[in-house]
Amino acid sequence: MPKSKIAGIGKYLPENVVTNNDLLKYMETSDAWIQERTGIQERRYAHRTEETTTTMAVEAAKVAIERAGITTDDVDFIIFATLSPDYYFPGCGVLVQRAMKMKEIGALDIRNQCSGFLYALSVGDQFIRSGMYKNILVIGSEKHSFGLDFTTRGRNVSVIFGDGAGAVILQPTEKEDQGILSTHLHSDGESAEILAMFNPGTHANHWKEEKMASFDDAEIGKMFFSHKMIDDEQIYPTMDGPAVFKKAVVKFPEVIMEALNANNLMPKDINLLIPHQANLRIAQFVQHTLKLRDDQVYNNIQQYGNTTAASVPIALCEAWEKGLVKEGDVVCLAAFGSGFTWASALIKW
Ligand code: UT7
Repeated sequence: MPKSKIAGIGKYLPENVVTNNDLLKYMETSDAWIQERTGIQERRYAHRTEETTTTMAVEAAKVAIERAGITTDDVDFIIFATLSPDYYFPGCGVLVQRAMKMKEIGALDIRNQCSGFLYALSVGDQFIRSGMYKNILVIGSEKHSFGLDFTTRGRNVSVIFGDGAGAVILQPTEKEDQGILSTHLHSDGESAEILAMFNPGTHANHWKEEKMASFDDAEIGKMFFSHKMIDDEQIYPTMDGPAVFKKAVVKFPEVIMEALNANNLMPKDINLLIPHQANLRIAQFVQHTLKLRDDQVYNNIQQYGNTTAASVPIALCEAWEKGLVKEGDVVCLAAFGSGFTWASALIKW
């Protein structure tokens, strides 16, 4: 059974750099607070009307496809991870298929937030291993800046997130000692509401406090999304940051060790760990727990903030472009976030 390898990788970051100080015009915060608590110095925001989650994904995909030495015609499956899709439905996968004028290939959308890219990578890996596909385009892309609460009320969330996209091409490899060694996926829905965006949605929570009976049947279609939800400012992502932090620093090392144990490897064998860029303090905690040297961990949250599903492929791409990922290296990818869902992948480059 062939393993899959990352044959090409690309990233796209919007031009617009937004510093911590730039955020002061919207909310009460400070460069010192943001840097101290998160490590973030600046992030990128997509052009408000000209760039979308899909257009950024297409730019990253073009680079990945070129670096893999193939053309868009060769791509036989798309897997797209995002929590900020262009439309509620259809997903961004088909929008990439259309924008890149690809054949009538399958397009799958993944909704796993911060661990979305690793879930997507794992699904792609299984399709390659089974022999079903030969060139899979796996994308993580986010346009967070369009849907954040930029008032002081939402500052614990809005200062963290940034926009961008990363993409890889997965191909089979016959080389014994190369490719994705294993992937590990987990979830625990107990805390689903701790990091979530509730509206629009079909949960109807908003209406439970209202008198449902008084709701005119003719108006039922408006329950999905209403002026009241906007007026009550219930349309933004919300997060209990400390609760997420506490769980993340346990689950990150756990899922990394799971990947290492599955391959009879130890932390010292990792050439480069790319943790999801949630918070520099989380990454440092994980590094400390696993006793990894600085040169074994790659972080770029300082420049790009937390780009959710895009953070792992952007960081991996940047590390590769800097020559930090070489043939034969053991690369570990790991992520934790909303759901909670978490995941890891171990790759022999
Ligand atoms: O990628 C998705 C997964 N997400 C994560 O992994 C995020 C995990 N959590 C975190 O990264 C951190 O919890 C945060 C960075 C979100 C927050 O840092 P914290 O050290 O946990 O702060 P906190 O939420 O406990 O808030 C401490 C104080 C509060 O003020 P009081 O109540 O002590 O007076 C907040 O109101 O900091 C205040 N605060 C801010 N102050 C200035 C919250 N956000 C800000 C802000 N600027 N942006």
